Amino acid sequence: MAFEIRLATADDEAGLAELDLATWSSLSSPAPKPSPDAGWTFFDERTKPEQIHVAVSDQKIVGYVKLSREIDLPSTQHVRSIHGLAVYAHFRGFGIAKALMRVAEAQARAEGATKLTLRVLGHNEPARGLYESLGYETEGVLRDLFKLDDSYIDDIVMALDLTAAVS
Ligand SMILES: CC(C)(COP(=O)(O)OP(=O)(O)OC[C@H]1O[C@@H](n2cnc3c(N)ncnc32)[C@H](O)[C@@H]1OP(=O)(O)O)[C@@H](O)C(=O)NCCC(=O)NCCS
Repeated sequence: MAFEIRLATADDEAGLAELDLATWSSLSSPAPKPSPDAGWTFFDERTKPEQIHVAVSDQKIVGYVKLSREIDLPSTQHVRSIHGLAVYAHFRGFGIAKALMRVAEAQARAEGATKLTLRVLGHNEPARGLYESLGYETEGVLRDLFKLDDSYIDDIVMALDLTAAVS
């Protein structure tokens, strides 16, 4: 599977909105699926193109990752967070997410961060397997934080130490 990764631009709104909606499920998000009819857009005050890297295959956006600040305080200048990651189902298993995560990690390092965090639902085995394969460690478990489809689901806080040697 040939793909390239580049920074998003404002022109990627339609492709990213389509991808986000197509991959939205309670496996990966505790929030209800947003509705474009209710005014939802991919880019907004909290999601700017410069925070997003996209994976492109045959000129189509097939994956994205969002790098963000979970807590925007002077005391958390050294921390960045992954706040979104998705790959179209037909493009999974080809290393696209791993490549996107590595690029986000490099961006966080370039910005001077020493810690990269994320949250993942306890039942999201593909994502947990991905993060573990990239060296993320579990730092906390918020037990039964969400009730999704009549089941209680943990929220798992994971982090990567960016001061460790690059593997
Ligand atoms: C999680 C997701 C982004 C993975 O995308 P992907 O492009 O298929 O992942 P990759 O091909 O880069 O996989 C890299 C590694 O992740 C792990 N992994 C991927 N899919 C997995 C699965 N179904 N089960 C267990 N581990 C898995 C493996 O370690 C894999 O390495 P390997 O292929 O050498 O074994 C994709 O399944 C997805 O978009 N899911 C829906 C959205 C989502 O869950 N986002 C994360 C929210 S926290």
